[in-house]
Amino acid sequence: MTFVLASDIHANLPALEAFYAYLEGHGLAGFPRIYLGDYVSLGPYPGETVARLSADTSSVFLRGNHDRYVIDDALLQANPYFSEPGAMDHVRWTHDQLTPENHAWLASLKPVHRFQADGWNVVVTHGNPDTDEMTLSVDRAEEGTVYLCGHTHVPRNETLHGSRILNPGSLGKPLDGDNRASFGLVRLGPGFAEFEVIRIPYNIEQTIAALEDRKVPWRAGIIESLRTAAYSHE
Ligand SMILES: [Fe+2]
Repeated sequence: MTFVLASDIHANLPALEAFYAYLEGHGLAGFPRIYLGDYVSLGPYPGETVARLSADTSSVFLRGNHDRYVIDDALLQANPYFSEPGAMDHVRWTHDQLTPENHAWLASLKPVHRFQADGWNVVVTHGNPDTDEMTLSVDRAEEGTVYLCGHTHVPRNETLHGSRILNPGSLGKPLDGDNRASFGLVRLGPGFAEFEVIRIPYNIEQTIAALEDRKVPWRAGIIESLRTAAYSHE
């Protein structure tokens, strides 16, 4: 089985469109796609991004922590994950950009998905099967299992105790020092699991201009982070 793996789009529509164009242009559009969550927040196009993704009824979509934050009324009032006031303003702004249909789609997403393919158990999550706030610990890796996880925005490709841990990095907000969009191509077969991380340039200036034009709260740090592909704090 071969499939495309993408994560952490974070409302970055130009990056998503570059991804679609790359798949079309490189003969990859026919493969199944699995998305690992964080479709919204930290970018200027939450509504447009969810509209594009939710129109795709053939792919697998997991829910990320940021998707959960914007649909949880209690977390919209106070979120222990965010210590800076600007961050809460940003989450509420994202919430307000989403239509009832967008909210319903995000609320429909599952935190964990499991399937079997080519002799592998495949476990699909945003972080790990217990929480969307933390990545998978190597202590948890079970033989014969392929773990697909996102959340860190940094690609990961590990072989451990007969298991594989694969993270495609972030499509819309990489944090590994390379600001190009990142996604993965997974090829599973009996006894092997190949993983290729693909980097593609996209119109980052369009994303930054939209953050300014839409006066997105907390944007100074987001813009710096998009440019540098590193964490930033205002
Ligand atoms: Fe994320």
